[in-house]
Amino acid sequence: MCGIVAYVGSKEASPILLHGLKRLEYRGYDSAGIAVLNDQVNVLKKKGKVDELKKLTQKLKPTGTLGIGHTRWATHGAPSDVNAHPHTSTDGKIALVHNGIFENCDTLRSALQKLGHTFRSETDTEVLAHLIQEYKSRYNVPLEESVRLALEKVVGAYAIVVMDQDEPNKLIAARKASPLVIGLGKNEFYVASDATPLVEHTREVVYLQDEEIAVLEPGQKLSIKTFRNEPQKPAIVELDMEIEELEKGGFPHFMLKEIHQQPDTIADCMRGRLNAKEVWTRLGGMETYRERMMNANRLIITGCGTSWHAGLIGEYLIEDLARIPVEVEYASELRYRNPVINSGDVVIALSQSGETADTLAALQHVKEKGALIYGIVNAVGSSIARITDAGSYIHAGPEIGVASTKAFTAQLTLLSLMAITLGKANNTLHPEYYKELVKELGEIPNKVRNILAKDETIKQIAASIKDASNALYLGRGYNFPVALEGALKLKEISYIHAEGYPAAEMKHGPIALIDENMPVIVLATNLSAYDKIVSNVQEVKARKGMVISVVTEGDKRIKQLSDYTIEIPRTIEPLTPLLSVIPLQLLSYHVAVMRDCNVDQPRNLAKSVTVE
Ligand code: AGP
Repeated sequence: MCGIVAYVGSKEASPILLHGLKRLEYRGYDSAGIAVLNDQVNVLKKKGKVDELKKLTQKLKPTGTLGIGHTRWATHGAPSDVNAHPHTSTDGKIALVHNGIFENCDTLRSALQKLGHTFRSETDTEVLAHLIQEYKSRYNVPLEESVRLALEKVVGAYAIVVMDQDEPNKLIAARKASPLVIGLGKNEFYVASDATPLVEHTREVVYLQDEEIAVLEPGQKLSIKTFRNEPQKPAIVELDMEIEELEKGGFPHFMLKEIHQQPDTIADCMRGRLNAKEVWTRLGGMETYRERMMNANRLIITGCGTSWHAGLIGEYLIEDLARIPVEVEYASELRYRNPVINSGDVVIALSQSGETADTLAALQHVKEKGALIYGIVNAVGSSIARITDAGSYIHAGPEIGVASTKAFTAQLTLLSLMAITLGKANNTLHPEYYKELVKELGEIPNKVRNILAKDETIKQIAASIKDASNALYLGRGYNFPVALEGALKLKEISYIHAEGYPAAEMKHGPIALIDENMPVIVLATNLSAYDKIVSNVQEVKARKGMVISVVTEGDKRIKQLSDYTIEIPRTIEPLTPLLSVIPLQLLSYHVAVMRDCNVDQPRNLAKSVTVE
């Protein structure tokens, strides 16, 4: 949610900032801006995408070797030129960019107005620029100290980068509960809200920690202090990311590229954790805590959106295969409903970005209650990865499309590995069944490849629902959370209203909605409840609904009843979601393209939701 990029060194700053903002646009894209220093602070900002800002810079050609940039996802104040970042102090000398929220901005704004500061925007961010100016003029201290004093007064979560005309060779970066990465070059520094804009400039980075302030001055060593003024030794780490991973690789959209990457990302997630030949599974991150997980009062899986859906499938897997009680809760509910949690519980947090504010807040809460926290995260070094006691990365690589696809199947792969490993340790899996599960999980990448080869057929089916206003997704057992995920995918990128239901629930209400205008997508691969699903399809057809079914290869009965059918390879039931979700991802993608929607950056959404 919002992206920050900054540079100080000897190169022209604005091309670096604009290119970096383009890379970060997936985090927020309702307005963008830069400030570049050349005797004076020169601010250029524009409502809309980074390309609009680019046009402005081509006209005005700002020059200077120090600058900050931002792409915004509005929280305080509508998207507009004036609300776009950077924001400046009353005297225009201090400029800053900010991710996050200052919760006490109204109180601070009134106090500053009384002191003579004039505000231009409706944003919470602008308050900090004025506050820094206030401390600078009051105490005549270096920029880092006036920033530190100002941050003592703000309440909230933030990552900021600040520049000051009176200290023309210096950037100040600070964070609290919102990520910031510093890239180290030769006599130059880069800053960004995640590593994606840094990878083409440097491999050496420092992840700023919570409540730390960094001073970046070319020619000087990176200096970091805590908010209490204690010096810290910067921990330099090597970036493990390739530029090609950030490009579309010949696909028209990141989402389609990421859907097609899934055979590889699923295999990457299993690498070193599963050996189908020797029949073993292991999760390094879990080894020390396996007993504690097996003897836990219960496992509580938490997350948001697609990650929450993966969590629901995790519940089915772990209860089914390892017989450990599991609950799944939306992170936002877990945080605020006063749950009974203690040191006997293990909380498993799922997050692609590792920065979701609701999930982070829930984890802070359960940590205070003494629960063990296990993270299943994609973004390496992210805030959620750092707050956990143990965990496993899903290794899906950077996911750029706002709609999560490859992260979801990697999360399912990891949860399957976890359930199978715990099941073996708990003696709840017959050795033959364990062997079958391990072998079959190893086959999943090939089976996903087989489904992806049906893309053209799925595209044709998509044409049949592209003008619908609503859609219903039905599934039973393991396929119920997949139905929820299918509906979410359609909603978020095509703006068609869609709902997911357990198939049996249809007759308790949603059946009233079914007529010839209602497409019903039925996940009909389960062998255990096959006859019941046949009945559900008949019920829809009897009311003239249009049925698109996802069936197991060779199925005849449901195929006959359906208007359109997508066949997927046979697998064992607990692993079905890894396959049945793929056609739903492709279906949503093609519908969205046909409706001319912005697939990778759907309206009102951001990739990483860092506000509660
Ligand atoms: C997925 O398609 C969504 N855009 C969204 O629901 C997402 O899964 C959710 O915001 C959680 O994000 P996280 O996995 O990065 O924590």
